[in-house]
Amino acid sequence: MKEISSILFVCLGNICRSPLAEGVAWEFIKKYNLSLKVDSAGTSGWHIDEEPCAGSRQVAKRHNFSIDDLRGRRVSVYADEAFDLIIALDSSNYKDLLQLGFEKSKVKKLGDFGLKGADVPDPYAYRDAEGFEKVYQMIAFCVKNLLCMHYPVVESHSNFLDIKQPNS
Ligand code: 4NP
Repeated sequence: MKEISSILFVCLGNICRSPLAEGVAWEFIKKYNLSLKVDSAGTSGWHIDEEPCAGSRQVAKRHNFSIDDLRGRRVSVYADEAFDLIIALDSSNYKDLLQLGFEKSKVKKLGDFGLKGADVPDPYAYRDAEGFEKVYQMIAFCVKNLLCMHYPVVESHSNFLDIKQPNS
């Protein structure tokens, strides 16, 4: 497996899905002492400098970690081209990243890591915790699989972060 040392997670707003993916990755970095840089960004500039949405902050808290300190930013091919992997949360983010000019070989969809390429749905309109829990499980399951592929130290069979196989 090719060595990777940096991953950027990208969604539309950078306030719901990609901050959760970044937060989950940070928890793995801390638990397993991984030398990995992670960040997240949005394809839109609609939520620059905003904190993650309430549903995402709450679902992270329910799983005993915090994403409260993350802030929205817009992805930029100039600032972000050095990342080894650029992970899109859905097909539209994927298409937008290629259109922006990111190198195709670096851009993947998060759902490719265990969910047959499924899009992680945009939870922005959800008001219920159940929707955010579903999105959390999809994100956490795929982030864990992605990290397991690149870092043998990450245990695939552990209860860390209460990650369950999502039902598709
Ligand atoms: P995200 O969710 O892409 O997961 O951060 C969204 C957040 C905000 C909007 C859309 C999606 N919005 O339309 O403002």
